[in-house]
Amino acid sequence: MTTFGSVRARQSADAIRGRLGGAAPSAAIILGSGLGGLADQIDATARIPFADIPGFPTATVVGHAGALIGGTLAGKFVVALAGRFHMYEGHDAALAAFPVRVMHALGAQTLIVTNAAGGVNRLWQPGDLMLIRDHINLMFRNPLIGALEPGDLRFPDMSAPYDSALGELARQVAMGQGIVLREGVYAGGLGPAYETAAEVRMLDFLGADATGMSTVPEVIVARAIGMRVLGFSCITNLACGLSNSPITHAEVLETTAAAAAHFQKLITGIVGKL
Ligand code: HPA
Repeated sequence: MTTFGSVRARQSADAIRGRLGGAAPSAAIILGSGLGGLADQIDATARIPFADIPGFPTATVVGHAGALIGGTLAGKFVVALAGRFHMYEGHDAALAAFPVRVMHALGAQTLIVTNAAGGVNRLWQPGDLMLIRDHINLMFRNPLIGALEPGDLRFPDMSAPYDSALGELARQVAMGQGIVLREGVYAGGLGPAYETAAEVRMLDFLGADATGMSTVPEVIVARAIGMRVLGFSCITNLACGLSNSPITHAEVLETTAAAAAHFQKLITGIVGKL
């Protein structure tokens, strides 16, 4: 058993379940860089700092508040993670995915992952929202490496990691709200350096539409434990080489702030229909 496996996750969930009120969440939501504003839309019964959750290190990145929030969104009880653990912080893939195990142990069967990403698809603009149809793991790490965790699939099928019915629901909600929802492939890299222009040309060649530094370990674990997954990227910038300006984390946060209203409306609309 790894340090960040299912047994530990159950202990972590047991330690915080009382503060959340005990109901099984309709969804677990992971809020990416600059997208934490959705947390304010949740009628929260509890806001638990990462420091209070056994097994969680404290989040360090600007734009990541570092709390697990439980409460009602669109009439549904949800748990949301404001902040996440990135491998570029020095964390193992298993730790990057550990909160997924904890939220699953709290009863969530559906995972909504979100992230900020650079746009590799040349037709897109900063501020666009992308439904993640598939991903490419360029982290060269896998959170399932090690002894098989109780309850895990040893060799999870990855032919459809992102649930097609949830994707269709997302399309319908976006259409009803007049939100343009792009769709594409997310390439997950380790970071923390942004890509070079040559790397972005490679990503394009490989079939990626967006690139970021998270999400992949979380989705792999979610599939190994049987959760349904829905994923979104907020395209915060054109990836390196596709525009003349250098990429800054400040720009990433600015763009997510501008796209936040659409993003929040979309996620809230989807959660209401789960
Ligand atoms: N590359 C990788 N990660 C990112 C980017 C990018 O251009 N923008 C936001 N996260």
